Amino acid sequence: MRTIKWQNGTVVTLDQTKLPSEETFLEIKTIDQMTEAIKNMRIRGAPLLGAAAAFGIAIAAHNSKAETKQQFLSEIEEAATKIKSTRPTAVNLFWAADRILRKAKKEETSNISNLKSLIIDEAQKIADEDAQQNRQIGKNGARLIKDGDTILTHCNAGELATVEYGTALAVIRAAWEEGKKIKVIADETRPLLQGARLTAYELKRDGIPVTLITDNMAAHVMKKGLVNIVIVGADRIVQDAVFNKIGTYGVAVLAKEHNIPFYVAAPKSTFDLSHKSNEVTIEERNPEEVTHIGSKQIAPSGIKVLNPAFDATPLEYISGIIHEDGIYYKEDFAKFKNYQTQQI
Ligand code: MRU
Repeated sequence: MRTIKWQNGTVVTLDQTKLPSEETFLEIKTIDQMTEAIKNMRIRGAPLLGAAAAFGIAIAAHNSKAETKQQFLSEIEEAATKIKSTRPTAVNLFWAADRILRKAKKEETSNISNLKSLIIDEAQKIADEDAQQNRQIGKNGARLIKDGDTILTHCNAGELATVEYGTALAVIRAAWEEGKKIKVIADETRPLLQGARLTAYELKRDGIPVTLITDNMAAHVMKKGLVNIVIVGADRIVQDAVFNKIGTYGVAVLAKEHNIPFYVAAPKSTFDLSHKSNEVTIEERNPEEVTHIGSKQIAPSGIKVLNPAFDATPLEYISGIIHEDGIYYKEDFAKFKNYQTQQI
């Protein structure tokens, strides 16, 4: 299923804050509606944020009343700036916005209608590529999964986090489609419960056996020998670490302690090898996400709260990174420091 679609100037996508109880579709028609949807996590997950960023700028292009190319380009830049101010950690959002901007700027035509079409086509291309790359990630990763394996995953790196098929869940889906009898353990992923609300929903819907645990049960299930492999997604992969949903680092440390392989699955649009982990901004979200579950308050009013949305797992904890062209293993990680796009 496509999670995001362009329909004549409207972006149609599921409101993920309403899942699993309601399947409500949003019809996004303005750049401000798109930024609101991203900030409030109606749309979330790194690759989907990339597509949403691209379509958000495409909406601005579609709605533009500019009469000159210069005016049009400045509206597009303004839209890209708004998109980039929504959430700081997932690099796909910046990657896609910059790709659209580059495309618009390098065109020689001054015909506004042609420029609009080029931007909309590029956004569609970003979405199509994501769908196709995720299938490849699935195929590349499925060879790591043995018949009978139980895979632990954290957060939601599924169809809902991408344009189609998922990244970590792509590997799980591909292994399942190959006929391997696998099981999944999904961490609930406090505070926003992407594991409980989204991963459990997707896998259950698709008939893939899934068991939900709270985040603090991971050590216990690993010690009991119930986990064969961990696979998670990523929001940004830098020279020395993988950024993903808060709690991922803890799972990686536990996996190492219990000799369980720990893999990351992500498209190359999630790689940001010109940066190191200390240069990345970790989004700090509203304290209410911690003091409340849904609308129910679970902590004293006024309590001090920390709410980082992501953490960084150093590469030494990672057995491999599955991407659309193959798998990087530990010996490949050294290349990340001397990165050239063409070489990775
Ligand atoms: O805050 P979210 O829900 O956008 O965070 C999502 C994650 O951390 C996912 O694991 C990551 O984006 C990988 S998605 C294929």
